[in-house]
Amino acid sequence: MEFSKRLGKLAPYPFVEISRIIAEKKAAGADVVTFGIGDPDIPTPDPIIERLLSASKHEPNHRYPETDGLPEFRKAIADWYKGRFDVQLNPDTEVLPLIGAKEGIGHAAFCFLDPGDIALIPDPAYPVYGVGTMFAGAESYTMPLTEANNWLPDYSAIPTNVADKAKIMWLNYPNNPTSAIATEDDFKEAISFCKKHNIALLHDAAYSEVGYEGYKPLSFMEIPGAKEVGIEFHSLSKTYNMTGWRSGMAVGNAEMIKALFQIKANLDSGIPQAVQEMSMQALLDDQTCVQTNIDIYQARRDRVITALTRMGLEVAVPKASLYIWAHIPDGFTSADFAARLLADNDIVVTPGSSYGEYGEGYIRLSLTTPDEQVEKGCIRLENWKIPAP
Ligand SMILES: Cc1ncc(COP(=O)(O)O)c(C=O)c1O
Repeated sequence: MEFSKRLGKLAPYPFVEISRIIAEKKAAGADVVTFGIGDPDIPTPDPIIERLLSASKHEPNHRYPETDGLPEFRKAIADWYKGRFDVQLNPDTEVLPLIGAKEGIGHAAFCFLDPGDIALIPDPAYPVYGVGTMFAGAESYTMPLTEANNWLPDYSAIPTNVADKAKIMWLNYPNNPTSAIATEDDFKEAISFCKKHNIALLHDAAYSEVGYEGYKPLSFMEIPGAKEVGIEFHSLSKTYNMTGWRSGMAVGNAEMIKALFQIKANLDSGIPQAVQEMSMQALLDDQTCVQTNIDIYQARRDRVITALTRMGLEVAVPKASLYIWAHIPDGFTSADFAARLLADNDIVVTPGSSYGEYGEGYIRLSLTTPDEQVEKGCIRLENWKIPAP
């Protein structure tokens, strides 16, 4: 049997590998504390689950869903965008439900990229932007994100011939893994660069609802001109503790939304309707659960920052997202440092290098771990004498 060349180009998906190591450790009796994947430990709020239970008994929901979802769900998404960001969207042409943002992000590459085309991809980044590009036979041109540039791309460093050839650019703020945020001016700069070079701008806003100390992250759709050049990917996963239910959306430029619909209509059959109903419940219900989550993550954030600082690591206090991005001591690779944390302390973190070469020198800690586990992990970190590299 012969498999495709693209399959051979895939590195193991970081969290599949981490899950395997955790399972192995646990089987050997270790008390593992994981700051690995960003997967909320807090349950989906009751009213959302109640809606799923009742929707599951509704027989029309037992049949194939439409690729573009229930009209009421698209309207709920548009209403949520209006309420949260004051962004007006046409639910029938500017909104497309997704089976989680990851699905849409992966499929989006097929809308824009042919073999040999260029996609501008940040590094470090959520791996799916680059993998989708590779699946479409296109090339990733790396936009390094550096601490010196506040983890934003330096557009002036992109050669004009690359910018002119590029078809799409991916951005993601609040950012995974660095936790960086983008200001209105940052988005304006990205939009004007993309307009100048006729590039489609794909913004991933999966963490827009996790902002600390009252900070409300922006939607790129709030910025004038956004709809002319781009779409935004969003997700119910992190906002409503719904990673397990697979629900998200793309919104914005109608032509781009239509293109993504065409690709999806040929590859998937939409979100189960009962899940669409629970998603409507999440988006339209009272939003107190969102702040409840933020308060929990903020307390964990402060505890983890204290522990890392006591260890002597350099770490910025994130304004948003579920992650702490910490600089590791010189002499270690991020993979080595993560391996030492696991071997010496039974603590799982993600090496920065999993997100690209510019993630080297950092580790990422996710705050989606129950409080008592966070405390246990922090005590272990504080008591750890970092060995020589
Ligand atoms: C930046 C980013 N985008 C998208 C996703 C995927 O979201 P979903 O669960 O909606 O597929 C993640 C998940 O971790 C993410 O970190």
